Amino acid sequence: MSTVEQPQPTQVASGCPVAHDFDPFDGTPAAFFEQARQERPVFWHDAINAYVLTRYEDCKQLLGDRTGKVSANAALMGHLNVPPMPEAMQILQESGFEFGTSIVDEDGEEHKLHRGATQPPFSPARVKPLTDFIRRQVTERLDAVINEGRVDMVDAMIYEVPATVILHMMGVPDDQLGMVKGFRGPWAIFIWGNPDEQVQLDTARMMGGFGQWARSIVQDRKANRGEDIISETITNLENKGELESSRMFLDSYTLNVVMAGHETTTNSAAGGLLELLRNPEQYRALVEDPSLIPNATEEILRYCTGVPTWRQRVLEDMEFQGVTIPANSVVYAAINSANRDETVFGDDAETFDVRRDTAKKHITFGFGAHTCMGNHLAKLEINIMLEELTKRLPHLELVPDQEHIYSPNTSQRGPENVEVSWDPARNPVSADSA
Ligand code: HEM
Repeated sequence: MSTVEQPQPTQVASGCPVAHDFDPFDGTPAAFFEQARQERPVFWHDAINAYVLTRYEDCKQLLGDRTGKVSANAALMGHLNVPPMPEAMQILQESGFEFGTSIVDEDGEEHKLHRGATQPPFSPARVKPLTDFIRRQVTERLDAVINEGRVDMVDAMIYEVPATVILHMMGVPDDQLGMVKGFRGPWAIFIWGNPDEQVQLDTARMMGGFGQWARSIVQDRKANRGEDIISETITNLENKGELESSRMFLDSYTLNVVMAGHETTTNSAAGGLLELLRNPEQYRALVEDPSLIPNATEEILRYCTGVPTWRQRVLEDMEFQGVTIPANSVVYAAINSANRDETVFGDDAETFDVRRDTAKKHITFGFGAHTCMGNHLAKLEINIMLEELTKRLPHLELVPDQEHIYSPNTSQRGPENVEVSWDPARNPVSADSA
């Protein structure tokens, strides 16, 4: 496994405030960020050994840099908050899987090559024909619970739909869903959290197994090309004469696309449903006027930012809001803060509003060369989930006084459980009536 050395500035840049008053692993401290945008738009946080940008324009500048001063190579293994303990590293090495650089960490020509080879199946024209498949996944799961009257909707539907869709696109049978699901929590804590020794050991064991699984898919597709995104990537690289040089990339991509392709969407959709039901008049607005759903999806992505922060590395000294961030520092774009920047979204930026006409300006999918490849797919999935929920369960309510579980990490955020209830006798679709 390759790890990147973790250079840290020896001291925090002069004049840069240090934040101690929030826990970066605990989600969206909206009030903290509101104040930070005004009073300390750039700050340092010890727990993540990094600078944090809170304003919309600064986050866009960092993520969309075209000057060559910013490297994407700061995520995944390049900048873990807790460097893996030797026993965890040993388990990973013994698994025989080499964790190459992920596409989202690549720069320049290497990134261009790999993006060109992987992106075609995620274009709007290629994603749209998945509509019927996605709707069937949603429908089957709602059919199974429609007369129950009370479920955890993440468990019943929201988790499995995006996971089943990405496995389908990869040509992987959906009986492997359970294995993917088991990897979910530990993976996010290992990479973006503050994992204790047990989590490190457990995750290292899982990562080894998961890596072998990804590699076996690549090997299989090299020998037997099919109509799936891994075969297509292999063929595209082969046509460029880059198949051999992309061996590690292909293994890593296969591993990463499974997680990037579902957990993010699940988190956003779960957060969105929670917000809609916390504001029942907003849910009702979608029931009464389904044409609002595409904009509601944008507002969900803005407000319930499934990837609340994304990190980069500055290669040269860079100035943001009067703070000179030294070369080689890791810098986080607080996307969740940028998405509520009042200079872009107005004085009511903290309000969840499915009719907001600026919702689309969110930068939840990042910005620039690395803009999320799966953004059309994610939106289509959330749209369809909302269409079916509001049609078949217009009388959905949030079960009161529930506690929501969130994975403690900086960059993957969504409630793991959203308990909902309804009266099956009032199901409006006649086939659904109890
Ligand atoms: C709501 C759901 C999603 C969110 C919030 C999200 C967010 C992000 C973010 C923040 C980035 C980094 C952008 C940057 O560096 O500027 C990213 C990159 C990426 N996402 Fe997503 N994503 C989502 C869904 C998906 C889906 C469904 C896929 C499908 C495969 C996907 C695949 C990728 C890939 C491959 C990259 C790397 C692109 C590159 O480096 O060129 N994502 N995503």
